Amino acid sequence: MKAVYYEAFGGPEVLKVGDLPAPEPGSGEVLVKVAATSVNPVDWKLREGFFDGIFPHQFPVIPGWDVAGTVVQLGEGAHGFAIGERVYAYCRKPVVQAGTYAEFVTVPEDHLAPSPANLSDAEAAAIPLVGLTVWQSLFEFAALEKGQSVLIHAGAGGVGSMAIQLAAHAGARVFATASAANANYVLELGASRAIDYRIEDLGVVQRFEMPSGFDVVFDTVGGAVLDQCYPLLRTGGALPALNDEPDAARCSERDIRALRVFSEPNGAHLRHLTALIEDGALKPLEVQSFPLEEAAQAMALSQEGHVRGKLVLKV
Ligand SMILES: NC(=O)c1ccc[n+]([C@@H]2O[C@H](COP(=O)([O-])OP(=O)(O)OC[C@H]3O[C@@H](n4cnc5c(N)ncnc54)[C@H](OP(=O)(O)O)[C@@H]3O)[C@@H](O)[C@H]2O)c1
Repeated sequence: MKAVYYEAFGGPEVLKVGDLPAPEPGSGEVLVKVAATSVNPVDWKLREGFFDGIFPHQFPVIPGWDVAGTVVQLGEGAHGFAIGERVYAYCRKPVVQAGTYAEFVTVPEDHLAPSPANLSDAEAAAIPLVGLTVWQSLFEFAALEKGQSVLIHAGAGGVGSMAIQLAAHAGARVFATASAANANYVLELGASRAIDYRIEDLGVVQRFEMPSGFDVVFDTVGGAVLDQCYPLLRTGGALPALNDEPDAARCSERDIRALRVFSEPNGAHLRHLTALIEDGALKPLEVQSFPLEEAAQAMALSQEGHVRGKLVLKV
């Protein structure tokens, strides 16, 4: 099968496009013919070797954790999906090796969900990883509720675009950080306030516009951005963080519940998202599509850190 792969860690130049053997579905797995996949920052972080020693890997590595496609074969005991059914999934595996930048991928059937009927394959491929990350961060962990306030960092990115929509749909008051060029984009997604993180002081915004502090701050950036989060929260607020471990001492000073979230594949959670999308409560993300052969260019763009919405590879 056609696949993008690498045989050593490095920059975009280590990526090759070639033929690799197609995978066979194991017990409880489904073989999916990939129509589209999306680029997530973790794809280039893994390729650079940033997670060497954290995630087990085996070369050649086919990158990619998101898939939208069609069921073509059922492994032993897999019975929840029909041949020809349109499906999508976040399909991270215990060993980083056989990803979704390829014509075929195997997926445990409990990680799959039917694709939203009103989305193209490219739009569907943009949803699973970021959608499950938001679901598990804002609702499973932070228990964000109607009437609460949430500050979402990097509102224009893949996670942020999904977080703004899901938080606004849940009835929360949403503040989102974005550069000035993306202010209208985050407002249209449902934020009530776009904060230009390049020029505005978050502490001043919080003191004047949310004096009691945010109920939830979602850190999708890490580093200095995570450092700024603690004083923005109300006492007892929640801090899901995606890149760095929150500081336990700073959290305990103000009774902040914090967690470094590591999103999990989950077909049941994905079915909730399918329903919200089919009901029109959640809009497809803005996607920029590339052919699979241009994976290196797409990953380089992701690495620059200013993607709006999602980058998608059509297979
Ligand atoms: N732990 C997990 O399970 C998990 C899951 C998903 C993602 N992640 C991580 O979470 C991060 C976000 O993922 P993503 O898919 O949303 O990435 P992304 O789509 O590449 O995010 C790009 C966005 O980040 C914004 N941005 C960059 N620097 C910023 C800053 N200092 N403040 C505010 N916005 C900033 C940019 O907005 P402007 O162009 O307006 O600057 C751009 O729209 C990545 O590091 C990813 O690896 C972790």
